[in-house]
Amino acid sequence: MTLTFIGHGYVGLVTACILADFGNNVWVIGHTQEKIDRLKKGDPIIFEPGLTELLHKNLKANRIRFTLDYDQAIPQSQIVFIAVGTPSTNGGDADLSAVFKVAKRIAKHLGTEFTTISCKSTVPVGTNKKIESILQAEKGRNTSVAVASCPEFLREGSAIYDTLNPDRIVIGCDSKKAADLLLELHRPINGKRVVTDLASAELIKYTANAMLATKISFANLISFFCEKTGADVENVLDAVGLDKRIGRIFMDPGVGYGGSCLPKDVRALTRMGFNLNINTDFLENINDINISAQKYFIQKILNNAKSKKVTIWGLTFKPNTDDVREAPSLFIISALLKNKYKISVYDPVGISNVKQEFGDRIKYFEDPYGALQDSSALIILTEWNEFRQVDLGKIKKTMRHPLIIDGRNIYNPDLMKKLGFKYYSVGRKPIK
Ligand SMILES: NC(=O)c1ccc[n+]([C@@H]2O[C@H](COP(=O)([O-])OP(=O)(O)OC[C@H]3O[C@@H](n4cnc5c(N)ncnc54)[C@H](O)[C@@H]3O)[C@@H](O)[C@H]2O)c1
Repeated sequence: MTLTFIGHGYVGLVTACILADFGNNVWVIGHTQEKIDRLKKGDPIIFEPGLTELLHKNLKANRIRFTLDYDQAIPQSQIVFIAVGTPSTNGGDADLSAVFKVAKRIAKHLGTEFTTISCKSTVPVGTNKKIESILQAEKGRNTSVAVASCPEFLREGSAIYDTLNPDRIVIGCDSKKAADLLLELHRPINGKRVVTDLASAELIKYTANAMLATKISFANLISFFCEKTGADVENVLDAVGLDKRIGRIFMDPGVGYGGSCLPKDVRALTRMGFNLNINTDFLENINDINISAQKYFIQKILNNAKSKKVTIWGLTFKPNTDDVREAPSLFIISALLKNKYKISVYDPVGISNVKQEFGDRIKYFEDPYGALQDSSALIILTEWNEFRQVDLGKIKKTMRHPLIIDGRNIYNPDLMKKLGFKYYSVGRKPIK
């Protein structure tokens, strides 16, 4: 098939490369020349494991092409995917301006053959109907078009694996012809198929993300109980998670959820509820607990670091990505800067994105141990694998005071005690 993707971020570029790898002829439309030039040269712009290799392979095979020109791509495409960003507005709604803008442009360039417009961007219920209206209003008379909502569930850091091995593929669509085309496109990929209406598909995505955020906030709420009572949150959640009705996966206490999806999607669902006159206190509480988890962690740093020189390891909102959007690190660094802390940071791939936020107000290191010189506290904010079995002896020798404040519970408190560290983690007894 010939396909077009609009948007070349974590969703657009990964999916475009995979579908090109299956033998499809894929166009990717961007909106800045500089980025299109980089992509043409094989630079994926974002960091996602395995993506550079997949991009190079498909560029070489001429199966993926990048352009700014809608007319080059849209008229010959059977399916056009919208994969642009839908960030929060100041009020918390999903900002749909890019979605509607590209829908208008698509409409003007449709060819004479039937085209399916498939929205992968996460959008509130009713958005795909609006896309449909825009297309009907703006398209030429001889074109026929259908809209499908195909929400995306990939996780940054394992996006290629997730796209090839999804739990489910959701296709929300009123047109059988379009649904059949999308089913055929996904044929090489396993996973349950859920073919449904537009509204259900849109709501499935928000429900999934709100549930994931709930699991994290619930784990954090229980961690507050553990810290006040001397219980151990990992033991509590391990035991509770053995109940098959509950499960342990994603119930991770820590410094709270971040990234470009969970925070904004919880806010957008809250706003959707408000507009529908539905009580959304529950969703607001999920968000509030998340903020509390971050504030509570900041307080641990303020209370325990012996000087104002501290080190942070891990800046991205999760491991294996360079994405720092709404990462807890941004919130925590800002709070420490307000309190006049001097901060040295290390992250395997997130440094350049954090530099755009903080410039020279913090110090950046390419070596984790280098960042520890003279430091009074090592603060762990992302559970990168390379932090799990570090040389703890070397850490202790390099730091001014052997204090670790671990926001991801990656070290064993007994080992910390044996090695002579002060160790504060989340929902577990501190080693003083
Ligand atoms: N990142 C994830 O893990 C993930 C997972 C599932 C769903 N989603 C959803 O998918 C959508 C895209 O997310 P993402 O993480 O890929 O975003 P992103 O910010 O990485 O990429 C967005 C892309 O849209 C492009 N874009 C914006 N405006 C444009 C315009 N007018 N014309 C052409 N291109 C334009 C940007 O250049 C960029 O390439 C969002 O709705 C998001 O909520 C994201």
